[in-house]
Amino acid sequence: MTIASSLKQDAPHVAYRAGLLYFTGRPSTALSAEEDPNVIYHADGLLIVADGKIVASGDYRSLVSSLSSETVVHDWRGKLIMPGFIDTHIHYPQSDIIASPAPDLLPWLNTYTFPTEGKFSDPEHAAEVSEFFIDELLSNGTTSAMVYCTSHKNSVNAFFTESSKRNLRMIAGKVMMDRNCPDFLKDTAIDGAKDSEELLQQWHGKGRQLYALTPRFAPTSTPEQLGACGELAKAYPEVYLQTHVAESKAELKWVSELFPGYRSYLDIYDQYGLLRPRSMYGHCIWLDETDRGRMRDTQSVAAHCPTSNLFLGSGLFDFAAADESQMLYTVATDVGGGSSFSMLRTMDEAHKIGRLNAYHLDAKNMFYLSTAGAAKALDLEGTIGSLAAGTEADFIVLDPNATPLLARRTASANSLEELLFAFALLGDDRSIQATYGAGVCLHDRDDTRKAPESDIVLTIQ
Ligand code: GUN
Ligand code: ZN
Repeated sequence: MTIASSLKQDAPHVAYRAGLLYFTGRPSTALSAEEDPNVIYHADGLLIVADGKIVASGDYRSLVSSLSSETVVHDWRGKLIMPGFIDTHIHYPQSDIIASPAPDLLPWLNTYTFPTEGKFSDPEHAAEVSEFFIDELLSNGTTSAMVYCTSHKNSVNAFFTESSKRNLRMIAGKVMMDRNCPDFLKDTAIDGAKDSEELLQQWHGKGRQLYALTPRFAPTSTPEQLGACGELAKAYPEVYLQTHVAESKAELKWVSELFPGYRSYLDIYDQYGLLRPRSMYGHCIWLDETDRGRMRDTQSVAAHCPTSNLFLGSGLFDFAAADESQMLYTVATDVGGGSSFSMLRTMDEAHKIGRLNAYHLDAKNMFYLSTAGAAKALDLEGTIGSLAAGTEADFIVLDPNATPLLARRTASANSLEELLFAFALLGDDRSIQATYGAGVCLHDRDDTRKAPESDIVLTIQ
């Protein structure tokens, strides 16, 4: 469909004038952002939206003449619009225990995580935390996330109910765990599978909601539960799967005692049929070359969670080895093991983890991994993570003048890479001016969307 013919359709069109940035593939570290064909940037751009979808995006001058005189044009000049961030690994029930210190993953789980997750047997609590959690995602510019609920079925219903209310594209699932956790969180292999199947039938593909089978990690599942999960993964290939692997050294030792005879921690999941497209593996720090090859061959994805890995002292993700193996990976917050909801803070820490292994994770790649790269990893390319015509209109407005320091640094940025690097290293929720889900403004830092006239260009120039 041409832009002109699509603009004649009934749905009212809304346009946004600003810098525009999105990615059509993984940027090359050998090219500047300006030269890279995978980096689409319009310094004076126009984004046209109708009916929750992007109708067109490009240079203001070349698109403005296609607008009808009734089209409302929001003037965001001086700001940068890009696709909303996609956080590929986060726990909504852990919102209340973010920033709770512990010497390692396992004591942190026992001391803080399991007790707080126990509270989600109460549907009202689950609903209240879901609302807070989604507000927090939106104020940080995150429009989609792959989310762990708790082992309580109603924790999933509460989350999807809230996400549906905001019309967001979210992936979530009920944690399955039938051992090595408090009784108040334990399910059984049979009940965990039955509840998961009922939930996926209820929610997967309902509006924008997608379901993920969620065995917490190998230590909290019996072989029977992993087997039942493998059966579901096979029966429902369209459904997602998420778990944790190779996060801390102490966890690795425990896993080798619980599952003797396996080649590696990842091999356990492999043997149960859990490595597959649409599977997301949190952390992947202590993998070897064979494991990375299996990740690549099975199209499984690693979610690198830098703030969590530094906070819990778990270890350093090996970017160079991940690139070498050609496995897919993304970056994610892992709240509440992670210490920030902000994908910008997360990029900052990812960059520094790279640095500690003499790896340069450049800014265009950090933004790619948080948008189009995550969409590709989730098999949602062409759906989210882009500003291309036909994709869902989940986008954010970044403000280079959000703080005096950011304003000062971005004013002297000599390239797109420098501008993006400043956002990644200095940015946080203050840098997010506004967040749109399916074309609707769901968050505005200054709440100006209540008076949208303030930024409307009345005359199309
Ligand atoms: N491994 C098993 N459960 C968890 C969790 O909730 N957070 C993190 N970071 N690792 C885990
Ligand atoms: Zn996690």
